[in-house]
Amino acid sequence: MSLEPRVERKRVLVADDDPRVVELLRITLANSGYDVLSAQDGREALEVAGRQKPDLVILDVKMPKASGLEVCESLKGKGGEHCPPVILISGQADPAARLRGLTSGADDFLTKPFSPQELLVKMDKIFKGFEDSKHLSDVSVEFEREIKRGEEQLEKVNNELKRLLYSKDTLIGLSQQLNSSLRLETLLDTFLLSVVGQLRVESACFLLVQGWDSRTLVYCASKGVKRELVKNIEISFDSPLGSVLSSADTPLGVDELADSPGVSEQVQQIAAAGFMLCCPIVVKSRLIGLLLLGERLHGNGFTQLDMEMLASLCSSAGIAIENARLYNELRETYLATIKAFVNTIEAKDPYTRGHTERVAEYATSIAEGMGLSPEEVETVRFGAILHDIGKLGVYEQILWKPTELDEEEWKIVKSHPEMGASILSGIRFLEKAIDIVRHHHERLDGKGYPDSLQGDALSLNARIVCVADSFDAMTSDRPYRDALNVKEALSQMEKKSGTQFDRRVVETFRKLIMEGTINIG
Ligand SMILES: [Fe+2]
Ligand SMILES: [Fe+2]
Repeated sequence: MSLEPRVERKRVLVADDDPRVVELLRITLANSGYDVLSAQDGREALEVAGRQKPDLVILDVKMPKASGLEVCESLKGKGGEHCPPVILISGQADPAARLRGLTSGADDFLTKPFSPQELLVKMDKIFKGFEDSKHLSDVSVEFEREIKRGEEQLEKVNNELKRLLYSKDTLIGLSQQLNSSLRLETLLDTFLLSVVGQLRVESACFLLVQGWDSRTLVYCASKGVKRELVKNIEISFDSPLGSVLSSADTPLGVDELADSPGVSEQVQQIAAAGFMLCCPIVVKSRLIGLLLLGERLHGNGFTQLDMEMLASLCSSAGIAIENARLYNELRETYLATIKAFVNTIEAKDPYTRGHTERVAEYATSIAEGMGLSPEEVETVRFGAILHDIGKLGVYEQILWKPTELDEEEWKIVKSHPEMGASILSGIRFLEKAIDIVRHHHERLDGKGYPDSLQGDALSLNARIVCVADSFDAMTSDRPYRDALNVKEALSQMEKKSGTQFDRRVVETFRKLIMEGTINIG
């Protein structure tokens, strides 16, 4: 049995009404490796060509029933896939007949008598031409496919590049935002929004250690998932899942995690909330948080680029969270120190005891009641806590003097807003509170101190603390007068609305007292 590949023999149809010619051509072509079909007239030639699909047709021009020219025209006129090359054979040697043959669509022309060799050479040429053109056509089809594949690839790369560029921009923007945001809530919110948008995931959730020395991750914030599904997720570092996460430095698929021993219950809780990826947030080799990511929108998996982006985002988030924590700790420590100072002063003076606490409480409630942002509310709280810090610089004898102050003494007391502002200057996180400290004794009509600010020049934050401070002063006993009751104090403040106090602030304050939101001891 031969192992050589089978070469398909070409089929040639010879149509001539002279059987001798047919026989001669059959022998010649068969000897050259062709299969030969034959027909004795034009109609038979068309029938055989239609049925057997020859690779080449040799036609005598003069044939009964249909001439070679007619058969040629018919074959070529059909077009389509099977349109074999045609060689016309004629006894007429005149150029007009040759021209007519060629215009009928024939590929070549032979004049009797011809040598078999001449026919074979012409056939070779025709077949080669056909193969070349078929090859060209195949190449062209393949080339078109290649171009299309290239275009698709290019579009894909282009889209990915666009996304990459967008992501890098956003990443830089996010890093800046994270670095500038020192409020943990704002920071986590920005981070989650960015993750959901950038990685196009359905949901994301953030677990965080509560306190620097805590060893448990608890729910902190989420996007795109019902809170009930995630609020109870807690992962102790001492649990099997906690120890797997503590030693991981790359995102882990929920499926992968499920293979670890002893983790199934917690992993099931995470999977049930729709999460499929757990990304540890590590700072200084210590696990401080965990980002859980849901499925990608459109069902695509995470690409290498996504994972790189995620690693970068998690690293930025880790640093920003640590900064925020340190900042918050520092802030709270500083505030506690200042409160302790203020309390020391107040503790010695029975008439102002608890004043700062009350002013801070009133002012914070008014700020919230007026719909200020959480950041502004915090500024108001700080400003209120610190508003009288300048009294640290006023002689105790004057502050606690049981009788009315003389002009000189009043001058010293009235310097406390400026003194306070100067104590706080240079402390970055208290910058915004300085305005309140300096201006809590200003009046809308410009008759206040120290800068005699008027109207719009007086900030809302300062106006809020003015009202809270004055109200507490009015409702507290002083050595030289008795306290007013709440009703009297509010009525006096209303009378002074528009001149000393801001009308909206006083109205809000009254409403909060009436509805019980502010409880006056
Ligand atoms: Fe004051
Ligand atoms: Fe005060």
